[in-house]
Amino acid sequence: MKVICTERSQVLGARLAKVLQVPIVDVTFSRFPDGEYYLRAGDLDDEIVVVGSVVDNDALVQLMLLIDACEHSHIRLVLPYMAYARQDKQFKQGEPLSARVVAMALSRGVSEIFTVNIHDPDVLKYFTVPKQNLSLARGIGSYIEALHLKDPLILAPDDGALAFAGQVASAGGWDFDHLEKTRLSDIEVRMAPKKVCAASHPVVIVDDIISTGGTIATAAGMLYQQGATDVYAACVHGVLANGAYARLMSTGIRDVICSDTIERACSRISAAERIAGAIRKR
Ligand code: R5P
Repeated sequence: MKVICTERSQVLGARLAKVLQVPIVDVTFSRFPDGEYYLRAGDLDDEIVVVGSVVDNDALVQLMLLIDACEHSHIRLVLPYMAYARQDKQFKQGEPLSARVVAMALSRGVSEIFTVNIHDPDVLKYFTVPKQNLSLARGIGSYIEALHLKDPLILAPDDGALAFAGQVASAGGWDFDHLEKTRLSDIEVRMAPKKVCAASHPVVIVDDIISTGGTIATAAGMLYQQGATDVYAACVHGVLANGAYARLMSTGIRDVICSDTIERACSRISAAERIAGAIRKR
C-alpha cells in the first residue's frame, strides 16, 4: 500500500502515510501555460490511498486527475473535506444538487470512500461506491481536555450540531448544550444556551465548519455578555473564509482550533489516526 495526495492535502497525506507506516508517492504538480493542471505520479502500488480535500474548484480538478493517474491500482479515496456538501438539496427551482454532482464525479474509478464529518450524512447516498463517514469529535474532546479548563461548557451554535457537541463533551464528562437564537427586533437577536448557564464558565463552541465565522462571532459576544470567563472555538473544517480567523480573534475569542482536513496554521488536531484506524479495519 502507498499513500498519494493532492497539493492541498499534503500535510494530512504525509501524516497518514506515517501512521500507516507506508510510503508516500512523490507527485510532480505543474500547470500548462493556459492554467490547466498537469501532474505526474511517481511509482505507484497495487493498493493506493488517495487523499484530497476538495477545498475549491482547483482542488476538485486536481483530485480527479490524481485518481485517474492511479487507474491501474485498487483505490481508496480519503475525502477529508468536501466543498459543495452544503448545497445538499435543490432549495429553489433551477438549482443544481451540487453535493450529488461532486459525490458522483469522485466515485468514478475508486473502490471505497472515507469522508470526515461530512456536513450532512445524507449526502453519502450520492457516492456510488461503499463509503464511511468518520468523526473527529473524540480528537477535539482530547484537545480540549489538554487545555485543563475548569468545568468547561461545550456549546453547539445550533441544535443541528448538538449531537456533535455531546460527543465532544463525553471526553471529559462536561456539560453540553446548544445555543438558541431569539429575535428581539428586526435588527437585534439574542443567543443563549438553551438549558445551561454560561456565567463563570469557560465555553468551547464546537461546530463541523467555521466558514465566515459569523455564527461563532455573534455567539461569543453574547456569551461574554452573559459572564463566560473565556470563549474558545473548535471545529473540524476550518474554511475560514473572508478573514474569519482575524474576525473571530477580534471578538475576544481566546483561540480558534481546527483539524487538518483543511490545512491551516490553526490546524492543531489531525485526522490521520482516525482515518488510519478505519483503513486498517478494511
Ligand atoms: C451550518 O449548518 C454549519 O454547521 C456551520 O454552522 C456554518 O457553516 C458556519 O457558517 P459561518 O461560519 O459562515 O457562520
